[in-house]
Amino acid sequence: MEFTQVVENRYSCKNFSGRKVEAEKLQVILEAGRVAPTAKNLQEQRVYVVQSEEGLKKIDAVTPCRYGAPTCLVVAFDKNHVFTYPGEKRDSGVEDASIVATHMMLAAANAGVDSCWLNFFDPDKAAKELGLPENEEVLMILDLGYAAEGVGPLPNHASRKPLEETVVYC
Ligand SMILES: Cc1cc2nc3c(=O)[nH]c(=O)nc-3n(C[C@H](O)[C@H](O)[C@H](O)COP(=O)(O)O)c2cc1C
Repeated sequence: MEFTQVVENRYSCKNFSGRKVEAEKLQVILEAGRVAPTAKNLQEQRVYVVQSEEGLKKIDAVTPCRYGAPTCLVVAFDKNHVFTYPGEKRDSGVEDASIVATHMMLAAANAGVDSCWLNFFDPDKAAKELGLPENEEVLMILDLGYAAEGVGPLPNHASRKPLEETVVYC
């Protein structure tokens, strides 16, 4: 798909059918995350592919927002392997994991796979439920699958501020 079409067509799917994500498409999505840029090329992201019944139950235990998706990618990062920026107020963990997640979300859209970015969960509870190592923090969960019949973008998908409100030329 043409890139502008990919970013315009992507929307947050909040009702998935039972159709599974093909292994080849999943591989393409994961690969898009692999090539994402990270600060100092640290690649501190960890991506957990959750597809088993048992794993999906764990997702359901921490968030109501799986919406029936047959695959969830839990994107975490290694807190002990981040780059701390000058000023020491921030580090690269959240940022790098977000870029990886965004790459995968857009790759999914390009492959015709619907998705929803989730943050409505307690990251500590999610890490515990999934049995992640102490040094890893969960950044987000990406629901992946195919929209149920008749489901499309919510009305707010089309509601974006005009550029003049968010962009300043200096
Ligand atoms: C950082 C972030 C966190 C989000 N968390 C959730 C969530 O936990 N549950 C949910 O249903 N949607 C979640 N969304 C989806 C947003 O509600 C959605 O992106 C927004 O309303 C715009 O709709 P659109 O993606 O269809 O354009 C999240 C999106 C982002 C970017």
